[in-house]
Amino acid sequence: MHQHKLGVNIDHVATLRQARGTKYPDPVFAALIAEQAGASNITLHIREDRRHAQERDLELIRKSVGIKVNLEMAMTADLKRVALAHRPHSCTLVPEKRQELTTEGGMDLCSDRYAGLKKYIADLKKAGIEVSLFIDPDDTQVTMARKLGADAVEFNSGRYAEAENDKKAAAEIERIRNAAVFALSNGLRAHVGHGINYHNVHPLVELGLLEEFNIGHAIVARAVMVGFERAVKEMLELLKSAR
Ligand code: PXP
Repeated sequence: MHQHKLGVNIDHVATLRQARGTKYPDPVFAALIAEQAGASNITLHIREDRRHAQERDLELIRKSVGIKVNLEMAMTADLKRVALAHRPHSCTLVPEKRQELTTEGGMDLCSDRYAGLKKYIADLKKAGIEVSLFIDPDDTQVTMARKLGADAVEFNSGRYAEAENDKKAAAEIERIRNAAVFALSNGLRAHVGHGINYHNVHPLVELGLLEEFNIGHAIVARAVMVGFERAVKEMLELLKSAR
């Protein structure tokens, strides 16, 4: 099994800045520290309402860090423009409802809402951007992702993270395992993200199937207490497989 990669999501550094309309804390600074600490990518989600990360953050992070930059975004014309202007290494497409507190579930790729997705993905790929789709761990969604031309899928670990008891958590891990095996057999890379923290990451690591872990809130929250570099390094330690 390859080494698990950590994508550090710096959105909530931006959240703190936007809360006061100040220039600090700067997500670019956080991205540089994450790179130095050993992260493989920087992820940021530019939302339609620009509530945390801004276009300026993507531009400067893209120019400043040597590691890969992954832009999370909804399938809108405006965000395609942003992606084509700043050329992140990858885009992860996510569903987005303006009122939600955070991303609430994977994209339903069978929905009419995503009728234009194949062309949208092709346009990003033509610009040399890899495309990942944020979906629930489900074979139908994986099959659709392959048909639509995605390079990777990111499995939504939100249901696992929110499971009320161990039995439900174990069932969610099984769903992720099965969907990851199916994705890999379909030539898709398998990533995971949403709600992962220092306490619940271990069973996902143990699967040995997931290439990239995208983690934001827990790292930024820990960084407030122990500093950003240590928070990233602690998560990297946990991503080392026990095997
Ligand atoms: N992956 C995706 C697709 C997301 O939408 C988010 C939240 O922006 C994350 C990962 C990171 O989630 P968290 O902040 O809960 O670690």
